[in-house]
Amino acid sequence: MCGIAAYLGSEQAYPLLTSALSKLEYRGYDSAGVALIDGNGDIHLNKTINKVASLSENSSKASIKSTVGIAHTRWATHGAPTVPNAHPHVNNDKNIAVVHNGIIENFAELKAQLQKQGYEFVSETDSEVIPHLIAQQMKEGLDFESAFASLNRLLRGSQAIVAVLASEEPMICALRTGYAGGLAVFPDHNGGTITSDLSAILPFLKGTDVQVGVAFLEPHEIVTISAKGISYRDENGNVIKKDLVKMSLSDNVVEKKGYDHYMLKEIMEQSDSVLAATRELIDFSSLHFKSDNLSVLSGSSFDRVLMIGCGTSLNACSVAQTYFEELANLPTEIYSSSEFRYKKKFVNDKTLVIAVGQSGETADTLSAMSEIKALGARLVTVCNTPGSQADQLAEESYFMNCGVEVGVASTKTFISSLSILYALAIYLGSNVGYLSETAVRDKIADMLSLPDVIAETLKDADSFKEIAHHINFSNNFLFLGRGINYPIAIEGALKLKEISYIHAEGYAAGEMKHGPIALIDESLVTVAIATQDMLYDKMVSNVKEVKARNGLVVALVNESDDSLDSDADYLIKVPAVSPYLAPIINVIPLQFLSYYIASARGCDIDQPRNLAKSVTVE
Ligand code: AGP
Ligand code: GLU
Repeated sequence: MCGIAAYLGSEQAYPLLTSALSKLEYRGYDSAGVALIDGNGDIHLNKTINKVASLSENSSKASIKSTVGIAHTRWATHGAPTVPNAHPHVNNDKNIAVVHNGIIENFAELKAQLQKQGYEFVSETDSEVIPHLIAQQMKEGLDFESAFASLNRLLRGSQAIVAVLASEEPMICALRTGYAGGLAVFPDHNGGTITSDLSAILPFLKGTDVQVGVAFLEPHEIVTISAKGISYRDENGNVIKKDLVKMSLSDNVVEKKGYDHYMLKEIMEQSDSVLAATRELIDFSSLHFKSDNLSVLSGSSFDRVLMIGCGTSLNACSVAQTYFEELANLPTEIYSSSEFRYKKKFVNDKTLVIAVGQSGETADTLSAMSEIKALGARLVTVCNTPGSQADQLAEESYFMNCGVEVGVASTKTFISSLSILYALAIYLGSNVGYLSETAVRDKIADMLSLPDVIAETLKDADSFKEIAHHINFSNNFLFLGRGINYPIAIEGALKLKEISYIHAEGYAAGEMKHGPIALIDESLVTVAIATQDMLYDKMVSNVKEVKARNGLVVALVNESDDSLDSDADYLIKVPAVSPYLAPIINVIPLQFLSYYIASARGCDIDQPRNLAKSVTVE
């Protein structure tokens, strides 16, 4: 995970680096730190275990004259969030500082070997081996750049690393050894900037709505920035030329717009999500697909679909399994990316693989994608980040176009993912003649009505808040759903546990009697998703089973439905839509419940403990 920023140029580095870190904080916030190189070639470190903002407040370092530095916001893997464990880490001679994203799998043996050679360690991190390794390579005669390049050979695992050589002519080198953590390089006249993502480049620019040329480092490539300029090398040390990709950074400007939290703002933005996500795929005036933007799907025939993702993105895949099975008539499997990586794989050029992920930076998904690609499957991605590594790995990308999602708990990107996956399934179904032209038009028309229905549902925020107020006493929640709403039960539970730290489980309602029913008593809250579809009657029976055992039930039903009015303790009523689109509506009250419960408990909603927005370690 972690966010990295590095700068060598002509401006004061400290304010630029700390403001870049504040944009990267969503990637990890266990600690943060900056290393500045002054005009004498000395390193000045400033680290904190508090939020990034505390680096800027009252810092004597801000007055140090320095135009060169590196910075890091950490998501701890090795060692607790303490000041010694915070990055940057330095070598014993204090002339090399390093920031690191990822895990060094062979760090224990490297550390033992370096300790034998006399190097002293001050932290528990794996990362600290890096400055000592570079120092050792330099001791053996290599220059800084070549010593840095040797990390490609010496380190096992997937990581992103930036190191700075402190001297009167400082030099910054950066490298990726795999898919953990992307690095974007932004050259300017007097040097350049390296950041983990595009949003962090903004502080280095004048103005915001700008097109910039950015180079993305591929695994094992090395970039060097010094007063002489920027150069790139491949893993064999050969100088290479990197093309600059033109990117618009205007989408990366995000504000809370008066909301207490980004999460609430992002929930409230959801009525725009469906059409924003599908406008590149569907011409809404003619209700036809834009086949040019669907070339992988239009140019091939598939015998199955495989979807991979993690967390909320995996839940979107689970909902969409029904889309591809029922609308495209294709056998469809879903896997958590981390599980898929280590299983026997049955994919070939007749398999359509869809990797879903808002960040496009999730290490497990990226590794699975690169393996899938090597096996010859057709690989596309649904993601929210143009230029991300997933975008670069996939043959074709379908962007969510919903703006940056800052809250660690995904909300609007879930709805965007579902909208795109629904559109892709309809398109495939129509291509193979499984869906008639009328069916296709009807289904697109259903999507067109969704923004209004979502807006209507959002208007009920206060009633969801009221219910949250009554149930926030409980420390145990069970979310039940069936069929296409089973993944929504899992998503509701995920939202609640990640931001309120309440234990919650998402269960298939039919499975309840095979175990979880033993948990039911008056202190367990059961949230039952019982909107109208072919499994509705069965869902109603499951609610009655919970009530018969004195459970406390929150039932989520359609507006016109009063059959659970006397059974449920609390009722959430949502507008009726097509069963395929019901998950998009049903998830909204669950997002609100978790938001208001977490808020009542005083939790750090946008940056919940132990989590990070981009999970760039395996
Ligand atoms: C969602 O609320 C979570 N924070 C998390 O599960 C997230 O969905 C997961 O880490 C996947 O991220 P991605 O969509 O960026 O790949
Ligand atoms: N493994 C390193 C640590 O624990 C880096 C973690 C990160 O990516 O932030 O410090």
